[in-house]
Amino acid sequence: MRTLVRNIGKIVGIETSGRLRLCGGEMAALGTLDDAWLLTEGDRIAAFGRMDDCGEMAVDRTVDAGGGMLFPSFCDSHTHLVYAGSREQEFLDKINGLSYEEIARRGGGILNSADLLHNTSEEELYEQAMERVREIIGMGTGCVEIKSGYGLTTADELKMLRVIRRIRQTAPLAVRATFLGAHAVARDYIGRQGEYVNLIIDEMLPAVAAEGLADFVDVFCDRGFFRVSETRRILKAARRLGLQPKIHANELAVSGGVQVGVEEEALSVDHLERMGAEEIEALRGSATMPTLLPGAAFFLGMDYPPAREMIRRGLGVALASDYNPGSSPSGNMRMVVSLASIRMRMTPAEAINAATLNGAYAMGLARDYGSITAGKVANFFLTRPMPSVEFFSYAYQTPLIRRIFLAGEEVVA
Ligand code: NIG
Ligand code: FE
Repeated sequence: MRTLVRNIGKIVGIETSGRLRLCGGEMAALGTLDDAWLLTEGDRIAAFGRMDDCGEMAVDRTVDAGGGMLFPSFCDSHTHLVYAGSREQEFLDKINGLSYEEIARRGGGILNSADLLHNTSEEELYEQAMERVREIIGMGTGCVEIKSGYGLTTADELKMLRVIRRIRQTAPLAVRATFLGAHAVARDYIGRQGEYVNLIIDEMLPAVAAEGLADFVDVFCDRGFFRVSETRRILKAARRLGLQPKIHANELAVSGGVQVGVEEEALSVDHLERMGAEEIEALRGSATMPTLLPGAAFFLGMDYPPAREMIRRGLGVALASDYNPGSSPSGNMRMVVSLASIRMRMTPAEAINAATLNGAYAMGLARDYGSITAGKVANFFLTRPMPSVEFFSYAYQTPLIRRIFLAGEEVVA
């Protein structure tokens, strides 16, 4: 199937030099082409060019973009969108003055979600998660990473990861799976954290690897959750089984998680609301992508990560939604991109690069996704006509996305 998209006002996010991530000053430039066409062949982008040079092409289908823009789909490299039910009671607790950590200490938070998940069948969990998947597709996401971590027993972690596998098999977007057994200490192991870490290493990880259920491993390395020494042990064991690390770090305190992530060659270290100069220094020259989740800072009323300083020091950053029931009950990547500009002073160009190519890098998918490049998977959306690229971040609530294509096929969201 060959599809020609004609009359595109502007193609955004073109990358032709083979870069798999953009760092520092590179993030400020967004490759664009005005008055353009784009051709897909099967699931891939075949070519693009200027309408002046379009000529006659033998195609199966023509799509008129009506002067709107064409963007690469968002690559959301950090979500927890498989979960049971919701946690709006804790939202009220927060309004009434409790902090995220206080709620967690009272057995709420992640343990609350683990109880709900335990009592939900795999089928029901899949149905609930697929609603969220359809929701994020409609908001422009074309690749997503999904974590386990609301199971906290071997059986329930496997249940979650099987749901993620089924989403991968049935949904039109690209999915990567992360095993996050070290999200919190399971209720039965409270006071015996070391034993829970042993359970992760001796039982959960081998079971996950035996079924080939995860691409990555993650640890919540933060105050009140997992220590650096425990994180290191889990990551080393996971790497022996072929799972590359991604880390939650420095959300609640400067935790040492960034350093251990870099040491263990994590693909990304995520959150980073608390960053010192040493953390930034540790990331410089590494292959680890710092990933910022401004939706979580917004929802919990926390400080935002120092994106400007990180970019100034030459780092690339990725943006992701953190879609989860406790700290970010939204997978809206447009909102994330706008928040990055409003609260972290990233330019719209930097934010779009961070939410597309750098997000793809943070999932190990940048060879095939994250930009408009001939040969990459044809994941893109068309917008209404807009006066500028900046308008997309500025008019942050206006429904601007008009049509969505994933793997070359139009998706009706
Ligand atoms: O990324 N920080 C740890 N994990 C999630 C929140 C999980 C939850 O509260 O359910 C996060 O913010
Ligand atoms: Fe998270």
